[in-house]
Amino acid sequence: MAVILQVVAGVIAFGGAHLMAQGLGLAAPRLTVLLAQGGMAALASHLVGLGWWWLPIQLLLPPAVLLVGDLGLPSWLPLVLFVLLALVFWNSARDRVPLYLTNRATAAAVAELLPPESGVRVIDLGCGLGGLAARLARARPDAFVTGVESAPFPFAVGWLYHRLVGPANLDIRYGNMWRIDLGQWDVIYCFLSPAPMARLYDKVKSEMSASGLFISNSFAVPEAPADRIVTVDDRRQSRLLVWSI
Ligand SMILES: C[S@@+](CC[C@H](N)C(=O)[O-])C[C@H]1O[C@@H](n2cnc3c(N)ncnc32)[C@H](O)[C@@H]1O
Repeated sequence: MAVILQVVAGVIAFGGAHLMAQGLGLAAPRLTVLLAQGGMAALASHLVGLGWWWLPIQLLLPPAVLLVGDLGLPSWLPLVLFVLLALVFWNSARDRVPLYLTNRATAAAVAELLPPESGVRVIDLGCGLGGLAARLARARPDAFVTGVESAPFPFAVGWLYHRLVGPANLDIRYGNMWRIDLGQWDVIYCFLSPAPMARLYDKVKSEMSASGLFISNSFAVPEAPADRIVTVDDRRQSRLLVWSI
């Protein structure tokens, strides 16, 4: 929506400037046209109800493009940055899940929650760079830990790290968590966002075998209170929500 509004505002601003130049012989400075574009995009974003943080982004993006041009930076640089960001935040637009990482203290608390039996199978759905999965695998050499990730860049980093120095009981896979049969795991861990939780909980309930554990870092499931909540003694007082399936 933000991109569409920015493009429409650009067409109106530059179209208007062109008509003014043709009809009245008035050439508007480029910065004025870009500020008009940003202003219209910000106003339209507000009117359609986008979050407040979109307003400064919409307002400042067009003049920022001019600034990049004036700095003499190569014109391909923004495209390369965009592609890199897209490879990292692959799931932000579709699944509304960005990349942020489970910290060390929370990983230790998750390891404490794993059942004591040897051979327990654990999966991190959306494993990012694979750090949490690697920590669990090291904390429990008797367990089999899998991380699945669908964003290309974090997957590539996690996979390469695992190949080079990862523990033997860790497997990092490229894949979409919605296409994975969750029946194979005893413990399912995720650190996603509020958006997919209801759908994921339904999938867990219908596929995971009885006596499994479902652990969500921070994000609750609407209308399905957790059986247990563990508060981690870290800076953000992370909460691990645990369901016994
Ligand atoms: C907040 S990060 C958590 C990373 C890691 N689990 C951790 O705790 O450090 C969420 C990750 O889930 C990934 N993700 C989101 N939707 C996914 C999907 N449908 N399939 C696989 N991975 C997904 C994102 O790309 C992102 O890397």
